[in-house]
Amino acid sequence: MNYAFITGASSGIGKETALLLLNQGWTIYGLSRSRSITHQAYRHIEINLAELNAMNAFRFPAVEDAGHIVLINNAGRLGKVAGFGFADAGDLDESIRLNLLAPMVLMNQFVASFEKKQVEKLIINISSGAGSFPIDGWPGYCASKAGLDMATRVLQTEIKIKKISQLRALYVAPGIVDTPMQRLIRQSGETSFSRQGQFVDMHKKGTLIPPEKVAIKITELISNYRSLPDDKIEFKYE
Ligand SMILES: NC(=O)c1ccc[n+]([C@@H]2O[C@H](COP(=O)([O-])OP(=O)(O)OC[C@H]3O[C@@H](n4cnc5c(N)ncnc54)[C@H](OP(=O)(O)O)[C@@H]3O)[C@@H](O)[C@H]2O)c1
Repeated sequence: MNYAFITGASSGIGKETALLLLNQGWTIYGLSRSRSITHQAYRHIEINLAELNAMNAFRFPAVEDAGHIVLINNAGRLGKVAGFGFADAGDLDESIRLNLLAPMVLMNQFVASFEKKQVEKLIINISSGAGSFPIDGWPGYCASKAGLDMATRVLQTEIKIKKISQLRALYVAPGIVDTPMQRLIRQSGETSFSRQGQFVDMHKKGTLIPPEKVAIKITELISNYRSLPDDKIEFKYE
């Protein structure tokens, strides 16, 4: 049996990836505050990933018959669109906890829980181009995604040094995807974010990527990752 743990499986990229993997016969554990999937092979774990106590208490369930175990750290938030001088400390804190701390805690738990399991294990961290270059008005988002990239690279380094077999960690920039997160970007004010008009234009022109296409790329990655290098993966679409 193949198992995937997907954070943020209730919406957007996470939901479409969960649905596609369910169609391919996987058992999915979805971690989010709300639930939007009903399927006999879907198990919902209701959790606020931005709460440290909830994260500390979380344990991966035993998956005795697993042949392949995948963790997709996908849940994320843009946070308040506001540059330095206008940002809100509580909002920055929530972005760092959801986008960076929660994936790191889950990576830690995943490695510890399945260390002795002789099956293929894969962690896919859904990052962003915004983790590689700065965008004005997105300090919490950019910084947390850059941190997620580095956390993945640290684990990649540990896997090499400790010669951990059957474990890979990858990080992915999915492109600009038509999800509720993009709606928030379009609704943000131009004064706090100079590129807002570009995102409004992309939506008008219909050039945003449907989340279903990202889900296909993620499932292809799960099939093909063994031959890929550790570099950040930027999905390209036809
Ligand atoms: N959309 C884009 O253009 C784009 C571009 C680059 C990267 N990304 C990345 O892709 C990932 C998915 O984004 P999306 O666009 O698909 O977003 P989305 O449609 O807004 O979905 C976000 C998901 O995160 C979950 N989530 C949010 N806060 C949570 C919390 N405190 N605890 C648990 N779950 C929480 C939500 O579930 P609940 O509300 O039910 O908890 C939801 O399932 C994110 O990491 C994002 O940074 C997106």
